Amino acid sequence: MRRKIVAGNWKMHGNLADNEALLSALLAGAGDVKAEMAVCVPFPYLASVSAKLSGGGIAWGAQNMSQHGKGAFTGEVSAAMLNDFGCKYVIVGHSERRALYGESDEVVADKFLAAQAAGLVPILCVGESLEERETGVTEQVVGRQLDAVIAKAGVASLANCVVAYEPVWAIGTGKTATPAQAQAVHAFIRGKLRALDPVVADGLVIQYGGSVKAANAAELFAQPDIDGGLIGGASLQADEFLAICRAA
Ligand code: 13P
Repeated sequence: MRRKIVAGNWKMHGNLADNEALLSALLAGAGDVKAEMAVCVPFPYLASVSAKLSGGGIAWGAQNMSQHGKGAFTGEVSAAMLNDFGCKYVIVGHSERRALYGESDEVVADKFLAAQAAGLVPILCVGESLEERETGVTEQVVGRQLDAVIAKAGVASLANCVVAYEPVWAIGTGKTATPAQAQAVHAFIRGKLRALDPVVADGLVIQYGGSVKAANAAELFAQPDIDGGLIGGASLQADEFLAICRAA
């Protein structure tokens, strides 16, 4: 059976004092959580987060990285740097990176490859916009986003990653996809991969992300192809995030 993974994406939130309080509460409450827990934090906090979480059973990671190994890339952070801070995960291709920072499918695939080459587990985000859903091209969009990675990294590479289905219209809007809507896309993703490699398809953890809260998590996570969540806003409140993790 696939293990459920619940990861917090803090986005550009937090400060040293608030992070300390949040992580203390998560560590104190994690004992009865069966799912794997992780937090993806802003780069400047990786040092303090890794010091706080080391040995504590909660994994950590980053929200983005460069596709390049090193060099004259002002402001960028490499996979090797994330390794220096003990990151397990790195989010690649979040819709905010795609939409606000112009990351193409191609760039996302390069980041995916660079993350794996450094031993990090990429959390590959895919998902359609509202317009794409309304025009009925959700599966084409998600399929294209996956194909870009498969073309560069091969289907076997998906044995060592997490995929997060995050419909753009559900992110930060309070509009969660219904469990049936989410399950349909998760089943599409797994079915597409099953045609290429059934073992990889059955082992792949596919998270749902988009306005997940304690109140709707259990119903989402009960769907057969939903293996946990990527949580934005609700991951900043310890009680709410722990309740979501317990629901997994
Ligand atoms: P919200 O949970 O705030 O909708 O954000 C989801 C998300 O983008 C996680 O990566």
